[in-house]
Amino acid sequence: MVEHVEIPEISDYAAVGGAGAISSVVDLFYQSVLADPQLVGYFADTDLARLKRHQVQLVSQVMGGPVSYEGADLAQAHSGRGITGADFGRVVDHLVAALEAHSVPAEITQRVVAALGATQDDIVTAP
Ligand code: HEM
Repeated sequence: MVEHVEIPEISDYAAVGGAGAISSVVDLFYQSVLADPQLVGYFADTDLARLKRHQVQLVSQVMGGPVSYEGADLAQAHSGRGITGADFGRVVDHLVAALEAHSVPAEITQRVVAALGATQDDIVTAP
């Protein structure tokens, strides 16, 4: 007789290694964004520590972590910046590369991209 054992479901947040892993992903993500000549100009006046803290919160939240996003409404944070669809695509590419560089499984990367990609209409304001 084999007893039934409950296997707890593990969040994507926990599966990739939690806070430390996500903080490392977001560090690499912004290193790449700021090294991209098409994107760096947007961040000229940005408090990068605050930006990273909020991005870590957002990514952690969409991955099911015990963390809440405390930054500005995304439409408000990006309004008036003239961000194009092409800029948005590059930012997403840098995020995917940072997740892949940390060996995050493809299906988790896909879920993160789906969740954050859904913000496009709030962020892209230029043709
Ligand atoms: C997946 C797409 C994106 C997500 C999830 C995202 C998320 C965020 C978050 C969470 C913040 C912090 C807001 C705060 O601190 O209150 C932020 C700020 C910012 N984002 Fe994005 N973003 C995305 C795409 C972009 C793109 C495509 C650009 C421009 C190329 C951009 C430029 C900025 C800038 C300049 C700030 C700083 C605003 C400030 O200084 O207050 N973002 N973004």
